[in-house]
Amino acid sequence: MPESGLTFFSTKRFDRETFDRHAADAGVSIRFLEARLTPETATLAEGSRAACLFIYDDGGRESLQRLSECGVELIALRSAGFNHVDLEAAEGLGLTVARVPAYSPDAIAEHALAMLLTLNRKTHKAYLRVREGNFGIDGLMGFDVSSRTIGVIGTGKIGSRFAEIVKGFGSRVVACDPYPDDSLAGVVEYLELDELLATSDIVSLHCPLTPESHHLIDEHALSVMKHGAMLINTSRGALVDTHAAIGALKSGKLGSLALDVYEEEGDIFFQDLSEQVLQDDTLARLLTFPNVLVTSHQAFFTHEAVEAIATTTTETVAGFLREGPRGVPSENLVRRASHVHASER
Ligand code: NAI
Repeated sequence: MPESGLTFFSTKRFDRETFDRHAADAGVSIRFLEARLTPETATLAEGSRAACLFIYDDGGRESLQRLSECGVELIALRSAGFNHVDLEAAEGLGLTVARVPAYSPDAIAEHALAMLLTLNRKTHKAYLRVREGNFGIDGLMGFDVSSRTIGVIGTGKIGSRFAEIVKGFGSRVVACDPYPDDSLAGVVEYLELDELLATSDIVSLHCPLTPESHHLIDEHALSVMKHGAMLINTSRGALVDTHAAIGALKSGKLGSLALDVYEEEGDIFFQDLSEQVLQDDTLARLLTFPNVLVTSHQAFFTHEAVEAIATTTTETVAGFLREGPRGVPSENLVRRASHVHASER
């Protein structure tokens, strides 16, 4: 296989358009592959010193081992999250792992807001109704966001931005985070999780997925929430126990649910399955609810965010090809201990 500095797994059209431009500027040659990284496809990186991975690529021990045997030295993640990479294995193999620590918190915060307003004012239904000549408004009643309490779980880069935006509505904004941010005084009131859940009309999740936050919103959390509350998850699918959420939707306890991420999204999101029968019965059930809005992990997908991801990733790769690990900006390096504040996408 011909030499290329970087083998790019799971390529989508928008990746190619953006990275082609940035890589040319940085003098990096890229071999774009549509294939996902798996232990079986890893050998396609033969001849490259760097491999670029997305969140659905398999960064487990076996894949890394094969990449290393092919001569790969750098795993460049075009994501903030790195929970799909076995960092212990990477360290043992002497692989450098880098990520994009921050690209556009606004992109995700604004998408969460779009979902909030859509579910509240039912614009997804109004759009279809009017196009079919139905100009009635029965069933479309929402509420004033300004009169409600909004709970933000996780006030890092994205959650703090979301809190500031919704504060602009005049709403009361409450938050919980093991590391409260003093600079948000005047914007949010910090509460314990259960208190936040019991107080909020709308709860938006902005914390990373860790062993501690897995199924943070489970049957108990849903039982504590206000009757008819709205839940928004643009963070990570497994923060929400989907079966428990379906139960709460059926009973009416959960008033509405917005998901940009879903526990089992890996084999579904980012793909056109419109000519197939959906095999995931849980997602299929979710899609039957009139008060559930699902988007396909698109919160990050703005011009600014995609450009920033490409800029940072190509800088990382160009620096590494030139000078090895020393050439990678230290904030982009992923170390095994950089776990607590880790973003997951
Ligand atoms: P960040 O690391 O800046 O902030 C996360 C915050 O959550 C930190 O302040 C941390 O202390 C807090 N936290 C950790 N565990 C918590 C818990 N159990 N309860 C409450 N707070 C907790 O991360 P950032 O950049 O704000 O990203 C947040 C999440 O957004 C990421 O974990 C990622 O999964 C998701 N994301 C989703 C994207 C999408 O396209 N849907 C794109 C980018 C990120």
